[in-house]
Amino acid sequence: MEQLAGRVAVITGAGRGGGRALTLECAREGMRLAIADLDGDRIEQVAGEARALGAEAFAMAVDVSERDDIEALAERTYAEYGEANLLLNHAGVSVRGPTVDASEIDWEWTFAVNLRGVLNGIRAFVPRMREQEGPAQIVNTASLSGLVARANEHGVYTASKHAVVGMTNVLRDELAPEGIGVSCWCPGGMATNQTNSNEYRPEKFGGYYEFAAPSLGKLPNPMQPEDVAPRVLAGARENRRYIITHPHRISDVTDYYDRMFADYEAGARIADELTSGA
Ligand SMILES: NC(=O)c1ccc[n+]([C@@H]2O[C@H](COP(=O)([O-])OP(=O)(O)OC[C@H]3O[C@@H](n4cnc5c(N)ncnc54)[C@H](O)[C@@H]3O)[C@@H](O)[C@H]2O)c1
Repeated sequence: MEQLAGRVAVITGAGRGGGRALTLECAREGMRLAIADLDGDRIEQVAGEARALGAEAFAMAVDVSERDDIEALAERTYAEYGEANLLLNHAGVSVRGPTVDASEIDWEWTFAVNLRGVLNGIRAFVPRMREQEGPAQIVNTASLSGLVARANEHGVYTASKHAVVGMTNVLRDELAPEGIGVSCWCPGGMATNQTNSNEYRPEKFGGYYEFAAPSLGKLPNPMQPEDVAPRVLAGARENRRYIITHPHRISDVTDYYDRMFADYEAGARIADELTSGA
């Protein structure tokens, strides 16, 4: 998609942080906006900020874990704009703490938002995108934690983001023949409220709770979301398989895969030893 001006962007989790920054960047690009968040007050505020930048925008209170909510977002988007050219499935939450100690509800909530929320976006929008004339690009927000596992990270979140990466890659190959682009965005640290997701856990998943786990501390080299957002749009324009806004985190990935390659070498040696010993 070469030109964003006049195109329609749909953004979930847009009430704050990365989603808000993406919204305002899309507004600056002249896009028409359909934005959604669990927090109805915040999302209205962000829509007001986008309009102040000259963008056409509507806001909806949406829980991405609810299929009907996203269906309603899609219906309204197509009723008002007739198409959706850039779908940013961004809403996500983070749970910290040792994997063994994570509760059922930690797993349910995290997967309901981080994985099923993305899936709901895809299910609601792809059938409609297939019928539209204009271009269609989907960006699913995963994480560096979807590419690697780190000792200071949390198993529940890491598992959910690995799932998003896997699903997004398969979806990309499935939809490419139809001309629908799919990208996987893997941020590696933004200065947002994400580590305090517990503040907005909905009642159906147990409501507000205090994190028992110690703070992760400051994320290494966190970027400001407004510096990250233009990089996301540039990656989406190029329909990158991965949108890498934090290239300075590449050693996390190479170190992780070097360890995996070492185990492949060990696997080859073990196979040889077993064959020659047979
Ligand atoms: N901040 C980081 O360092 C970082 C790093 C990697 C990936 N990410 C990913 O970015 C995404 C958002 O992170 P952020 O940093 O912008 O966080 P944030 O906490 O600042 O914003 C998240 C927004 O999502 C909304 N939200 C939460 N649950 C929702 C639901 N069920 N339905 C709709 N909206 C919901 C919240 O109300 C909030 O406005 C997540 O997918 C997260 O995993 C963030």
